[in-house]
Amino acid sequence: MHLAAFHRILLPYMETRKSNHIILAIETSCDETAAAVLDYSTTGGLPEIQTLSSVVKSQIAIHKRFGGVVPEAAARAHVKNILPVVQKALADAGVTLPNVDTIAPTAGPGLIPSLIVGVEFAKALALASGKPLLPVNHMAGHLYSPFSKIKDERLKMKSVFPMVSLIVSGGHTMLVLMKNQKEYTVLGQTVDDAAGEAFDKVAKLLGLPYPGGPEVSKLSAQIKSTNLIFPRPMIHSKDYNFSFSGLKTAVLYHVRDHKDQKKADICKAFEDAVVDVLVTKTMKAVVQYKAKSVSLSGGVAANLSLRQRLLTSCQKSRVNFFVPPKNLCTDNAEMIGIAAAFALDNGKKPVPLANVQADPGLSL
Ligand code: KG4
Ligand code: ZN
Repeated sequence: MHLAAFHRILLPYMETRKSNHIILAIETSCDETAAAVLDYSTTGGLPEIQTLSSVVKSQIAIHKRFGGVVPEAAARAHVKNILPVVQKALADAGVTLPNVDTIAPTAGPGLIPSLIVGVEFAKALALASGKPLLPVNHMAGHLYSPFSKIKDERLKMKSVFPMVSLIVSGGHTMLVLMKNQKEYTVLGQTVDDAAGEAFDKVAKLLGLPYPGGPEVSKLSAQIKSTNLIFPRPMIHSKDYNFSFSGLKTAVLYHVRDHKDQKKADICKAFEDAVVDVLVTKTMKAVVQYKAKSVSLSGGVAANLSLRQRLLTSCQKSRVNFFVPPKNLCTDNAEMIGIAAAFALDNGKKPVPLANVQADPGLSL
């Protein structure tokens, strides 16, 4: 049976269950226009979350010819796409606006022209429908995205927290310690380029198309190993911060001075260096904080080498490893809905419309 039809039949029943809560999540922080509808209920442990629909309209075709995201072009595309994307998410879920309990847009961090579109659209929807608004931090979306994989939590809860969470995206690289489902602290982050940004820049200097991360990892996967070795910045620093700008420069000089070096070797050596730093620091935090699990999220979490290396390290250290499916790694609204469900479950209250504003520098 089609998912929409299934939910249409189920909906009257769901509405009679007070614990169920329908969230309409909206994400426009960078270059994906996305909306999702989720149904969540409290369990006493981790919230039970069901994704009823998730729609992502990618802008890759628009930005490809510029080799990167052009903020104004992104905002224009969001304006064009937001209404059909939200309408499709509602239709796919088999719900209408009156069925929605909370509207949850990404408020930041991100590109301000992009963020404004989603936030103001959500405010207009909330104003017209009288529904409450819960702004969501984009990084909280990435942070909570692996929880789509953590089920039967009341049994397994003991093997989840403390959790060390590595968030690696185009804009951020962060190591977060989650004490429980509510409390977390940022252990460290990048002092310059984000991991994904470094992948994109290296791809660009090798003449590979945008977005560069998947291209670099595709080339790297063509070979088993390479003799080429790039530096591993800050791998043994005492803190949990990262730096990838020097590595990118090392690649730049190498490409300049070794014109006949195979691109696959460069991609492999670069990927190995990034993965080595990320895995080493994550596992160091696991030991220091006696973590019971590790989670990986953000666009770079789609990288197979990183997933594999982290999984192997976790197995060796006997800690659980959680990573969301690929479609939840790159930007999407489903993860924003998951973060909203956790926020509501943790007792966070909706925010009055007048106080909701897009904030490009919003911190976690
Ligand atoms: O989370 P995301 O979709 O957007 C931000 O919030 O930044 O992450 C996008 C980033 C881009 O830099 C992209 O090149 C990178 O994730 N990425 C990858 C892979 N797939 C996407 N990096 C390395 N390997 C991949 N397979
Ligand atoms: Zn992101």
